Amino acid sequence: MSRLRIFSETQPQQALLTLHEHAAIARELAQAGVRFERWQAAQPLQPDATQDEVIAAYRTDIDRLIAAAGYRAVDVISLAPDHPDRATLRKKFLDEHTHAEDEVRFFVAGSGLFSLHIGTRILEVLCEQGDLIGVPDGTRHWFDMGPAPHFVAIRLFGNPQGWVARFTGDDIAARFPRYEAGQAAAA
Ligand SMILES: [Fe+2]
Repeated sequence: MSRLRIFSETQPQQALLTLHEHAAIARELAQAGVRFERWQAAQPLQPDATQDEVIAAYRTDIDRLIAAAGYRAVDVISLAPDHPDRATLRKKFLDEHTHAEDEVRFFVAGSGLFSLHIGTRILEVLCEQGDLIGVPDGTRHWFDMGPAPHFVAIRLFGNPQGWVARFTGDDIAARFPRYEAGQAAAA
């Protein structure tokens, strides 16, 4: 189940607010300038669907977003829990960083944990199958795929070459819940 938890940046131990209802999460995130939507596949997808089949299933929403925000490239990435480089891949975006590009992800399958550092708050968004998140360019954030990552995600880019992480050097991410802690709390 998707979840938004809001923390003060100085209080990682206790969330100020926890939301599970999608419309409420989307409203709260919209106030912070963050896009959050639910998408439905136009046709059922097989687990072994190709990139083209995945994109075709969500074409209407992809095109709407491209028209609204000017994105120019779309791809599909997937990660399985037994990926030999999973620990390295997880570490890559685990510290607070920004991008010069929006970070736009739609979860075709699986889940991932985005933590957005906006003002003096941390907005922690557990994205699940069917969720689209759009993190605006320049937003301080980190992403945790967990120790056994499982997701298939559609990515939209304005310029994929510009999509590099600029680390802030702040160790704040280490003080906040990791993916597995969030999973335990949700159970
Ligand atoms: Fe990022």
